[in-house]
Amino acid sequence: MLKDQDRIFTNIYGMKDRSLAGAKARGHWDGTAKIIKNGRDWIIDQMKASGLRGRGGAGFPTGLKWSFMPKETDGRPAYLVINADESEPGTCKDREIMRHDPHTLIEGALIASFAIGANNAYIYIRGEFIREREALQAAIDECYADGLLGKNACKSGWDFDLYLHHGAGAYICGEETALLESLEGKKGMPRMKPPFPAGAGLYGCPTTVNNVESIAVAPTILRRGPEWFSSFGRPNNAGTKLFAMSGHVNTPCVFEEEMSLPMRELIEKHGGGIRGGWDNLKAIIPGGASCPVLPKEMCEDAIMDFDWMRENRSSMGTACMIVMDNDTDVIKAIWRLSKFFKHESCGQCTPCREGTGWMARVMDRLVRGEAEIEEIDMLFDVTKQVEGHTICALGDAAAWPIQGLIRHFREEIEDRIKANKTGRMGAMAAE
Ligand code: NAI
Ligand code: SF4
Repeated sequence: MLKDQDRIFTNIYGMKDRSLAGAKARGHWDGTAKIIKNGRDWIIDQMKASGLRGRGGAGFPTGLKWSFMPKETDGRPAYLVINADESEPGTCKDREIMRHDPHTLIEGALIASFAIGANNAYIYIRGEFIREREALQAAIDECYADGLLGKNACKSGWDFDLYLHHGAGAYICGEETALLESLEGKKGMPRMKPPFPAGAGLYGCPTTVNNVESIAVAPTILRRGPEWFSSFGRPNNAGTKLFAMSGHVNTPCVFEEEMSLPMRELIEKHGGGIRGGWDNLKAIIPGGASCPVLPKEMCEDAIMDFDWMRENRSSMGTACMIVMDNDTDVIKAIWRLSKFFKHESCGQCTPCREGTGWMARVMDRLVRGEAEIEEIDMLFDVTKQVEGHTICALGDAAAWPIQGLIRHFREEIEDRIKANKTGRMGAMAAE
C-alpha cells in the first residue's frame, strides 16, 4: 500500500488548504523554475524514463507524446490542451484534482507547456463542473497575482498564459479532436487521425492534448525523479494512480494507490469491501463505461493495470471501477450504457451512427427477454463490425460493454429469453 509520503495528491479529500499558500506548504511549486531551466529535452527524457502512461484511459506514454511536438514550427504557435471534460460514466477522479488540488495541475501545465514549446495552454473543462471551474479559476488568478503565470512565469524565463474553457455537456467533446473542434468554436465532431494533434491540432498548429491527471503528476515526477515513480507498479504499468470506486462497495471513494495491485485488495482496503461481503459480488466494470465488464470469478485474480486488463480482454480505462452486487440486473446495466452511447454518438460515421442504434434496439429486447436466442450471436457480430471501423473510439466504447456481457453472462441472457417464452418472467423494470 502507498505510504503517505509517496502520495502526489496531498489534498485529494479536500481536508487541507487548497489555496496557493496551502499548496506551497505541501511542497507544490517548489523549484519549478529550476526544473524548467534544465531544458526541454531533459524534461521529456525524465518523463519517458518515468514510464508514465496517459491517465485519460488510453494509456499512451506521456513523455513520448511530448516528444512528438516539433522543435521548428515555421512560425506557428504550439499549444497544450488539457482534457478536463471527464465524462466517462463512473469516472470522477480528475474532478477531485480540480476541486481540491488545482495547483498540481497549474504547475504541471507550465512545465508541460515549456517542454513542448507552448506559450499558451487551454484547460477544456466539462460544462457541468461548476465548482471545479470556480476552484480552478481562483487558483489560476492566484498564480497570476504571484507571478507564477504570465510573462517570465515563475521567473523561469518562459512566458506562459493559461485559459479555462467551458464545455457545454456533450460526451463526444472529451474525444481529443472533437474537443479541439469545440475549442475552435465549431460543432464537436471528431477528426480523422492521422494527422495526430502534434502535427495538426488546435487551429491547425502543433498541439499536445493530455488528461488532467497526466499533467498534474508531472511536477512531482520531475522533482522526485523517474526512478521513484517507476518503482511503483509493474514494468509498463508504472507509478501511482488515482483510482475510484462507485456502486455496491461500502465506502465509494477516490484514492491514490500504486498501480498493479489486486482489484480485491483495493476494494477491501479502500472501498470497505463489497456490500454484503465478497461473495455478494456479481461483476465489475474496471474503468469507466467503455471497459468490458468482468464477472466475479475474474475479479478474484484481477490486477488493476493496463496489461492485466488487456490480456484478459478488458481495459483499465480511467481506473474508476463500477461495482455491482448480486442484486444488480447486469443485462439492464449494459442496456443502459448502450442507450448512452447511442445518444452520444455524433452521427458522423455510419457504423457508429447506425450500429449504436441497432445495438441499443436489440439490447432493448434482450433486457425484456423478448429477443430470439440466435440474436445474441447476431448482436455480437454487429459489435465486431462497429469495433475498429469508426472515426473515433466511441464506436469501440459502444461495442465493448456488450461484448463483455455476452462473453461472461450469456447464460443469464438465454435464461431470460427462455423465461419470457414460457411466461415465467414478470414485467421487466426497463424504462
Ligand atoms: P487513442 O489510443 O486513439 O489515443 C490516445 C492518445 O495517444 C491520443 O492523445 C492520441 O493522439 C495519441 N496517439 C495514439 N497513437 C498515436 C500515434 N501513432 N502518434 C501520435 N499520437 C498518438 O485513444 P483515445 O481515443 O484518445 O482515447 C480512448 C480512451 O479514452 C478509451 O480507452 C477510454 O478509456 C478513454 N475515455 C476516457 C474518458 C474520460 O472521461 N476520462 C471519456 C471517454 C473515453
Ligand atoms: Fe461520431 Fe461515432 Fe464516428 Fe465517433 S465513432 S466520429 S462519435 S459517429
